Amino acid sequence: MSSALRTTDTNDIYIVHEDVMINIRTATSDDIPLLENMYRKEIEDHTERSQKFAEDLVLRYNTLLAIKDNAVCGSVTWEPRGGLDDGVVEMIGLGVNDAFKRQGIATRLVNEMIEEATQFYSVKGYLLRVVLLFMEQSNETARKFYSANRFKEMAVVQSLYPNDDASIWTRNL
Ligand SMILES: CC(C)(COP(=O)(O)OP(=O)(O)OC[C@H]1O[C@@H](n2cnc3c(N)ncnc32)[C@H](O)[C@@H]1OP(=O)(O)O)[C@@H](O)C(=O)NCCC(=O)NCCS
Repeated sequence: MSSALRTTDTNDIYIVHEDVMINIRTATSDDIPLLENMYRKEIEDHTERSQKFAEDLVLRYNTLLAIKDNAVCGSVTWEPRGGLDDGVVEMIGLGVNDAFKRQGIATRLVNEMIEEATQFYSVKGYLLRVVLLFMEQSNETARKFYSANRFKEMAVVQSLYPNDDASIWTRNL
């Protein structure tokens, strides 16, 4: 994770992490315009699809946002999979904008998502046991990221995506 050494007036050395400026919080319907802007900037400049994307993240699923200077620099989206008694959540999406990659933001998003989902299950009297996700088999960056974050590749589903096989990963809690 990025960090910088600074000195104080008394010359004590302390470490300042750059990520202290990045706030992670739950997305609400007030964030829909922010998410539409992010989609148009980072993914494609398409009005209807940016609206659908933003509304899905906030209204259909649960989403955490990484925010810096009132702009979205990353997000993670999840939902319970099956009944709550299964104790499984699916991570629907995870992304960090190019300018913010390799600063530990996705790691923070995933960890905070697990905390939030664990709490969600716990207040209803259930135990969250597993985080599950599907990714494109050829996504080498995601493969490295999930391997570094205690996920394991469990199975491959051939031709699940139009142009790729799907790889299924889990993290047992
Ligand atoms: C995958 C992704 C979310 C990672 O986000 P990130 O904020 O850059 O990840 P982190 O900084 O938390 O990385 C944690 C660790 O994962 C590994 N990692 C992440 N990106 C990597 C890369 N490009 N190459 C090699 N290792 C990588 C490293 O071990 C890294 O630790 P390090 O930087 O100390 O070496 C980001 O690259 C992304 O948005 N990719 C496009 C969308 C995508 O593929 N999403 C996942 C699909 S399911």
